[in-house]
Amino acid sequence: MANIEIIPLSDAIGAEIRGLDLRVPLDAATVSAVEQAWYDHVIILFRDQDLSYDHQKAFASQLGEIAARGGDSATAQEKSLSENVMLVSNIRENGKPIGTLPDGEMMFHSDTPYMDNPRKATLLYAIEVPSEGGDTLFSNSYKVAETLPEEIKHRLAGRKAMQVYDYAAQFKPDGSYDRSVHPHCAQPIFRKHPETGRTSLFVSELMTDEIIGLPEDESRDLLNFLFEHQRRDEFVYAHAWRPGDLLMWDNRCSVHARTDFPSDQRRLLRRLTLYDEHPVMMGEPPYREAAAQ
Ligand code: OGA
Ligand code: MN
Repeated sequence: MANIEIIPLSDAIGAEIRGLDLRVPLDAATVSAVEQAWYDHVIILFRDQDLSYDHQKAFASQLGEIAARGGDSATAQEKSLSENVMLVSNIRENGKPIGTLPDGEMMFHSDTPYMDNPRKATLLYAIEVPSEGGDTLFSNSYKVAETLPEEIKHRLAGRKAMQVYDYAAQFKPDGSYDRSVHPHCAQPIFRKHPETGRTSLFVSELMTDEIIGLPEDESRDLLNFLFEHQRRDEFVYAHAWRPGDLLMWDNRCSVHARTDFPSDQRRLLRRLTLYDEHPVMMGEPPYREAAAQ
């Protein structure tokens, strides 16, 4: 097994793993150690990596099955790499972005909760980054769930929320998304992680439209309360990217957002996701017990 060091990134979430060159295949014990660090810290960071697309794909494949890209149709530049890759970039050729999610700020969300089986992991590799801004913020959804007032836990226990997304949106439109045209799926609000057994809050400002079964006003007020709680500094780590960073996050127990950055500076990251081999589960007691009352 490789000699690795695991160094927390913040009190809220995340750890850096040092001692690995991700171009080299990992032995089984090292894969297990990386997985365990990911379960413990929710997001893991490897710095100073020099990864081609094939390297990134080979590394990702050791942790799960690479998922179809999803989303709107891929750009020519994305397709030239693979069906599965997304380039997160504001770089334009002939006036058109070479990738996806090009410019500026983005609200908190997880990746693909509007699908039946949301992707468990996203692996984002930084190639070019602006001199300032364009940070990715990560909020720890275990801690967010655990620290909710008991009264709120009881009101939400056993409930589902509707997750919807318009691929072009980086901000939630006023009102709701049009479900006749955009992908959507009802998901548990409290979600049990299949590996850690811990319960997380599975909603986000960008993609959660409605708490199912509650009057509209109550649903809206509760969601606003949850979004504010999720944004609190004590749960959030802001990642300032450096070229060569490979970051892998767990969409089952975190949400992420992006800060604004200068539009005249280039930003390019390469992204893969992994299928989840476990179906989504409802959260554990006390959340579920409370629902029965
Ligand atoms: C993503 C994403 C944020 C960023 O790739 O899913 O939300 O910082 N990216 O670009
Ligand atoms: Mn995302």
